[in-house]
Amino acid sequence: MVSPETLRKLGLQPGRIVEVIVASYTAEGKPHAAPMGVLLEGWDTIVIRPYVETWTYRNLESQRQCTVNLTGSPKLFLSTAFKGEPEVGELPEDIFLPALKVKAPRLRNAYGWLEVEISSGEAFEGRGLFKGRILRVKALPRLPEAYCRAGFAAVESIIHATRVLAYSKAGRRGEADRLARLIAGYRSLVSRVAPGSEAEETMEKLASILSRYGFKLEACRELF
Ligand SMILES: Cc1cc2nc3c(=O)[nH]c(=O)nc-3n(C[C@H](O)[C@H](O)[C@H](O)COP(=O)(O)O)c2cc1C
Repeated sequence: MVSPETLRKLGLQPGRIVEVIVASYTAEGKPHAAPMGVLLEGWDTIVIRPYVETWTYRNLESQRQCTVNLTGSPKLFLSTAFKGEPEVGELPEDIFLPALKVKAPRLRNAYGWLEVEISSGEAFEGRGLFKGRILRVKALPRLPEAYCRAGFAAVESIIHATRVLAYSKAGRRGEADRLARLIAGYRSLVSRVAPGSEAEETMEKLASILSRYGFKLEACRELF
């Protein structure tokens, strides 16, 4: 069993939801990655909840192994959440390396990762509930980093943007618009606190994606 102390140092503790990138192989053996919110159940089980329409759901169901990659990079969250959109393109295979104890890819640029074997999986109301046993944890040494609001705002915006598109597709325009307004606020915050940063570049790509789907963040500018 992986030591609770190690997991705690990585920001993981029972009941706390953390945002990570889950990497898995498709049935055809292609490496795949997508951001997911996950949480520990006890100290040796991780819970992953992909919607049933996602590739991650299909991969976990068929392959039963994955890695849970730790990163704070807005660029990595954007490129794995919105892969295939013209602003980010497809995921290049060289961002992946093989894991050691499970048959799954991991992200080369993550600052740590968990290797996980899925022990049970079910689905309720369109959302999967996979539980996995943590077989290995690896963390790379890192220097401390000064806190900047831009990283949080950009990752929060990417999460909201995935829901904007889902709500819009489901005809829930009011909820989609509410989240789009929040993203517009975060966009102006990022430009103010971190001009020229990776977070700002990510926000501009996100704004362009949303604009192509009919959500113009500029229209909310007067609110901020
Ligand atoms: C930080 C973050 C957390 C997310 N958490 C989840 C989640 O727990 N479950 C889910 O189905 N989608 C989640 N999403 C949205 C998926 O990443 C997104 O729908 C993605 O396109 C699914 O990719 P896939 O079909 O390639 O698996 C999250 C997105 C972000 C940015």
